[in-house]
Amino acid sequence: MTNNLTIRRPDDWHLHFRDGDIMRGVVPYTARQFGRAIVMPNLSPPVTTAAMAADYRDRIMAAVPAGTDFTPLMTCYLTDTTDPDDLARGAADGVFTAAKLYPANATTNSAHGVSDVAKLAPVLERMEAEGIVLCVHGEVTDADIDVFDREAEFIERHLRGIIADFPRLKVVFEHITTADAVDFVKSCGANVAATITPQHLHINRNAMLVGGMQPHNYCLPVAKRETHRLALRAAAVSGSPKFFLGTDSAPHLRSAKETSCGCAGIFNAPYALESYLTVFEEEGALDHFEGFASLHGPAFYGLPVNADSITLERAEVAVPESFELTGEEIVPWHGGQTIGWRIAS
Ligand code: DOR
Ligand code: ZN
Repeated sequence: MTNNLTIRRPDDWHLHFRDGDIMRGVVPYTARQFGRAIVMPNLSPPVTTAAMAADYRDRIMAAVPAGTDFTPLMTCYLTDTTDPDDLARGAADGVFTAAKLYPANATTNSAHGVSDVAKLAPVLERMEAEGIVLCVHGEVTDADIDVFDREAEFIERHLRGIIADFPRLKVVFEHITTADAVDFVKSCGANVAATITPQHLHINRNAMLVGGMQPHNYCLPVAKRETHRLALRAAAVSGSPKFFLGTDSAPHLRSAKETSCGCAGIFNAPYALESYLTVFEEEGALDHFEGFASLHGPAFYGLPVNADSITLERAEVAVPESFELTGEEIVPWHGGQTIGWRIAS
């Protein structure tokens, strides 16, 4: 039995830090494990310009604990009026690593998102030319589409077309939740990849809805039925470079989750790596963990792998039921459960 696992330091290719006191409270959890993280721009107001992203990056850097080597990678929130020049300049200056497509009103703070993907054509053309990665929240928002079908429908209505029209554009289909998405990503060329969250590897939709409403298992896209979870697990542990780690850690205070209209998002940053590793162990795929966590993401983004390493060791760790954040409580993913690994160094 493997009791220690040493891998290159991993990166988180999708998460939410928020801003202000919450951001200062959550950044250390991520910086403890990961060398870099792709930071989502869905603040209020959203991060739509290179100047805003540079300021936000400074605020995040100021929250990184002294002596910790962590680099936030910034993203541009695409809108109907995104300026391709500002985006390209921001990327050339090293401010933007990627740009994020939120269909309008798909999720938290996405009201300013893209109302019609067709309007993005000049921006996508420029991104393709400049090699700027497009991160996609892949859900349609049309009221007539069932919430469990929104991801699969997005592939047919939008993603297939984007990839056909911009065949060299690098696209990350983020936080995929369906077998349809797995199959689609596999069917595309090397310029199309996907991130997978820990929660979508661990739970299906029963965890959200059976035995009472479970708001801490609610995120978007919502967890789907078991067949989809199994397809995601197979993809994650397969060793394919098209699938890599992106936690989608999305902090919302307990008070915002346990209410009549609870926010979508799971705060998984504190035990993210341990959570993923549990899945790889259950699947008998520890040998593919480093690829998923530390190698496939940098390869896709065209960045070097991190220079240092991290060791995980077998241990019974009791995950706190909640953490204090800004004088309130936040419930972490696996809160109140025991997890079988911990970070050694
Ligand atoms: O569950 C989610 N929470 N999904 C998203 O796409 C956004 C995120 C958030 O910002 O809270
Ligand atoms: Zn997200």
